[in-house]
Amino acid sequence: KSQPIQSATEKSEAAKRLKIGIYFATWWALNVVFNIYNKKVLNAFPYPWLTSTLSLATGSLMMLISWATRIAETPKTDFEFWKTLFPVAVAHTIGHVAATVSMSKVAVSFTHIIKSGEPAFSVLVSRFLLGETFPLSVYLSLVPIIGGCALAAVTELNFNMTGFMGAMISNLAFVFRNIFSKRGMKGKSVSGMNYYACLSMLSLLILTPFAIAVEGPQMWEVGWKTAVSQIGPNFIWWVAAQSVFYHLYNQVSYMSLDQISPLTFSIGNTMKRISVIVSSIIIFRTPVQPVNALGAAIAVLGTFLYSQAKQ
Ligand code: 3PG
Repeated sequence: KSQPIQSATEKSEAAKRLKIGIYFATWWALNVVFNIYNKKVLNAFPYPWLTSTLSLATGSLMMLISWATRIAETPKTDFEFWKTLFPVAVAHTIGHVAATVSMSKVAVSFTHIIKSGEPAFSVLVSRFLLGETFPLSVYLSLVPIIGGCALAAVTELNFNMTGFMGAMISNLAFVFRNIFSKRGMKGKSVSGMNYYACLSMLSLLILTPFAIAVEGPQMWEVGWKTAVSQIGPNFIWWVAAQSVFYHLYNQVSYMSLDQISPLTFSIGNTMKRISVIVSSIIIFRTPVQPVNALGAAIAVLGTFLYSQAKQ
């Protein structure tokens, strides 16, 4: 009698896995496309503060249209919701702009190798700022993560301090974003998709004045004309692609965060970086020395050991 019940449970378990698998594959594919177009844009138009702002603006616009046309349900939010969202948005803005500044200075693969060290930041922040303790195996897994990132950094052919620091700042900011957003999403009726939509809008408000102060319309105008004269009118489509894909990959990642634990999420995020590192090295023909690749492999392996240790 228990057999049909068991097979029904197995089936629903398999369906859930398939759904998560589809989320992950979509998330990684969208992220690869974002990274490629973002770098193509930055190579011709080195204004990361504007491209970061445009990504958030496009996402916000897409969501406002989806709400107005009822493609997506408009979330019910109150002042308390936006207040709790504020620190998440500050961290998201810093993490996003810092990663983009990094990618404007170094190879996409290098930024993502350093960003694969995010779990190390997560443990250090949780340990020293929140007083959480972890089993010894978790601390030990930080050795290959930090060692691998360090080896990759010192052997990077086109090392640049701003590029390196941007990726490090992004790691730190995203650790705070994840801690705050876990708190903010708990017990809230807003879906993952709408939570990310509100996050984009608030981040856009925060980032815009800074983007104008750091770069500004005059620089953008000159830079844009130069880019269009080099690339042609198609340049605008590259900017559109990086902006749309930025929103889509983040939206899908927040939708999957709704379904899975933060730990599964961080494993998925590391695997995402492998696909970005490999595909960007092929597409941009990034020169890599064997010892540099070894550093990256050790760092990524370290994040797997970390996820095992945390489990
Ligand atoms: C950004 O621009 O926000 C970064 O490329 C994001 O990095 P992620 O891979 O951690 O989302």
